[in-house]
Order: sequence, then C-alpha cells, then structure tokens
Amino acid sequence: MINFTCSNEEYAGDLAELIRLFDSRFDGELSLDVSYTRMAGALKVSIKADAFENFEKNFIYPIKGDSPLVVKREEKRCLKMAIYSALVFITGIRLPYGCLTGIRPTKLYVEVDSSPEIYGKSARRVFKEDYDVSEGKVQLIERIVDVQKPLRNKDEKDMDMFIFIPFCPSRCAYCSFVSLAIDKQRKLVRPYIDCLIREIEQTKEFIAQNDIKLRAVYVGGGTPTSIGVDGLDEVLSHLPAAPEFTVEAGRPDTIDKDMVDMLLRHGVTRISVNPQTFNDATLELIGRKHRARDIYNAYALVKGKMDVNMDLIATLPGESFEDFKNSVDICRALSPENITVHTLYMKKGSELKNSKYVGANFQEASKMVDYAYSKLLEAGYAPYYMYRQKYTSGNLENVGYAKPGKECVYNIDIMEEDTSILACGANAISKKWEKDKNLITRCANYKEPLEYVKNIYMMLKRQREFWKESN
Ligand SMILES: C[S@@+](CC[C@H](N)C(=O)[O-])C[C@H]1O[C@@H](n2cnc3c(N)ncnc32)[C@H](O)[C@@H]1O
Ligand code: SF4
Repeated sequence: MINFTCSNEEYAGDLAELIRLFDSRFDGELSLDVSYTRMAGALKVSIKADAFENFEKNFIYPIKGDSPLVVKREEKRCLKMAIYSALVFITGIRLPYGCLTGIRPTKLYVEVDSSPEIYGKSARRVFKEDYDVSEGKVQLIERIVDVQKPLRNKDEKDMDMFIFIPFCPSRCAYCSFVSLAIDKQRKLVRPYIDCLIREIEQTKEFIAQNDIKLRAVYVGGGTPTSIGVDGLDEVLSHLPAAPEFTVEAGRPDTIDKDMVDMLLRHGVTRISVNPQTFNDATLELIGRKHRARDIYNAYALVKGKMDVNMDLIATLPGESFEDFKNSVDICRALSPENITVHTLYMKKGSELKNSKYVGANFQEASKMVDYAYSKLLEAGYAPYYMYRQKYTSGNLENVGYAKPGKECVYNIDIMEEDTSILACGANAISKKWEKDKNLITRCANYKEPLEYVKNIYMMLKRQREFWKESN
C-alpha cells in the first residue's frame, strides 16, 4: 500500500492515478510525499519516502511552451516522470506505459513528434528515455500512428455524427456504460426515440447550413438493435448519409434477417457482432444472454453484406489463457474485417466491480494481449486505434485491428481528437475541433435516458448555442 501526499493540491488527482498503477503491483507499505516549486523556465520536484532510511530526491526539469495550457501539461508530465523514477527505484517495478496515465498514447506520440521545440528529440526517444514506455508498447503505438496517417482528418468542416441508444437486452456484469435493460424500461423507448429524432433533425439543419461533410455516422450504445427493427428503422430513416455508417449492434441475440435487411436498406456499411468470448460458461457468468452458436448465426447473416467488427475481452472472470486463445483463434478463422481486443477494466457501476473478482495480474493479462497481437498480425490484421482505461488488468490497453483498407474512421477520429463529433442522445458528448488551435471543446447531454427525455428542450438549446459559437 502506497500512502501518497502532495503538498500542492493542483495536480494531486492526476498523480494519484500513477500511484494507483504502482499500488496494484506493490506488496509492501510505503509513504511518499511530493512537493514542487516553480522556477524561471523550470520545475523543481522534491520527493521524500520512508524507504532506504528516508529516501529524498530533487528533480529539476526545464519547462518550455508558450501557452498556459501547454505549460500545465508539461508540469504535470514532469511531476509524473519524477514520481515514476522514484517509485521504480524504490519498488523495482516498471510499468508497460512507464509514467503515462492518459487514455490516448497515440495522440500524445503525434503531439510530441510535432513539437521538437518543446521536447528536443524524437517521440520515440521521449517515450523510451523520458517516459520509460516499453519497446513493445512503443512499437504498437508507432504501428498505429503509421496506419492512421493517411486516414487522419485534415478539414475542420469534415465531421462525424454519433447517435447513442441506451438500451440493452440485459446488463453484462463487467459493463459500466450508461444503458438500461430494455425489458425493465420499455415505456421509455418511445419518448426516447422521439427526443432523439428531434435532436437528429436539429443537427441535420446545422450540417446543411454550414456545408458540413460527414466522414462517418456511428450508431452506438448500449445495443442499438435492442429497440427492435421498427424502432431502429425509424431512427435510421432520419440520419444523413455518410461514406462510413456503423451500427454497433453488438449483441448477436438482437440480430436476425429482418434486422439485417433493414440495416442494408439504410446503407449501413459496418456492424459489430461482439462475442466477447466464445466460451459459453463465461458468457453465462458475465450475464450475456447469448451463446457462441448465436454469434456464428448472426455472423452468417451479415458476412459479405457489410464490414463486421468483433469485440473480445481479455481476462474475463474464470477465463484461462487457453480460453482467451481459443476466442482469438475462432475470431481469426471467422475473419471479420475488424477485431477489437479489450482488456478487462473494472469501473464503478459494474456488477463485477462490486464482486470479489480482482482481475488478472500483469503477466496473465500480457500473455493474452501479446498472443492476440502476434496472431492477428500473422493473419493480416494491423492495429489501427487504441485507448487505455483506468482500472484495467495489468494496466494494459484496448486495440482495434483491421484488415488493410477496412479501418473504422470514426474510431480513429474519436481517439485522436482531430475531428468534430456531432453527438445526439443521452450520454452523448459533442466535440468541436478548432484546427488552428488544435483544440477540442465539449458539450455533454444528460447521461441518464430519463433525464435526457425530461430536459430535451434545454439540451437542444445548449447544443445550438455550442455549435453557433464557432460559426
Ligand atoms: C459500448 S460497448 C457496446 C457493445 C455492445 N452493446 C455489446 O455488448 O456487444 C463496447 C465494447 O466495450 C467493451 N467493454 C465494455 N465494458 C468493458 C470492460 N469493463 N472491460 C473491457 N471491455 C469492456 C466490450 O467489448 C463491448 O463490446
Ligand atoms: S456490454 Fe453491451 S450489451 Fe452489455 S451492458 Fe454493456 S453496452 Fe449493454
């Protein structure tokens, strides 16, 4: 257990996350006290710990950058580097992403690479020498950055549209997403669809009046297909066209021939059919009301008609390396255009978080994600986007793999944050990208579907004002 105190309040929350990552792998008792002082163009960080008869060390880092935002970011990173190097020295533990705690390592890599005036060396060297990111993770990041290069957005007027449908056939034990088991909330579906359509129509007016071109439309959830063929048909008939049009069906128990025909009529180009695992005992344990055979059936209905993504999760409860390996091997053999390999994270709001399950250790989790990486590359897939979550087994990552030319542009845009996202529905967060400042600002709708329905007029107004500000 590491007891952490920071005499300056400002960055304490961000730093605590790094301490937590060490704590999840450290068996002993340790008190760590951090303080920092701003000097002309530099930051002095002082660290004391009750290890090795009172450990004490000062670090001085140059702080470059001309805006308060950049300076703040740099200060935070320097503090993390100092704490990380002290903790590596004291505990002997090194983390796969070194001192990095953020969600988007690829975005950071590109930023570092394009700011030699601040960092003074290549992103590879900064990641390895300053942040202590492992060679394997640097290679993963570099591969993704390379695949993304020709797909990254360049034009402020090219945007994405995201539609959120917050219903599911049942709640899965690991899931902390905002979504309601549909059987218990049927009465809310009709008003929800009505409000959503109002918001979609308002967004379409903005698109038309401002010459916006859509790169992608993404209907996500929850499980959009859980509202049934008629309900989803109604929503899709209000959506504008886009070259990439994903419906994250996800649960194979919501996909039948009528559903697929309806999606095809609307020009859907990409669908998720998510196994999570092909092990029936695990599916039962995690509360998914489908079995492996339902995945094969749903996949047979969509294969060849649209691009397919399959989500897997490594380190699910009760699963050994062999179980996960089996799921990867089956996915590979089915050969969908995209496979996304998540590592289990346990967040507040999920049933699993409240249970006794503590997740897998770093070695087990690493063995699984490394297996997926090597076998999917061998089968012709390339990693094309990634993100990290808090409370993930082994402090690892989630990686989307695609066959060449089958990358999902929306997934890249949402992670790299260089595209505006017009988001509609409960829990939806619109993002406005200002290219000249490379800045993203956000406007969030109410999270809970009932609150969304109750406050729809207020949210429509808020969204109008948010988008008007820049146009
Ligand atoms: C927003 S969910 C929607 C997918 C769809 N409803 C389904 O369940 O198939 C997207 C994906 O996030 C992943 N996911 C959700 N909770 C997770 C967790 N706690 N740990 C790891 N992956 C998780 C799952 O793979 C899931 O398919
Ligand atoms: S994983 Fe998918 S189906 Fe399960 S509760 Fe989360 S959003 Fe719903």
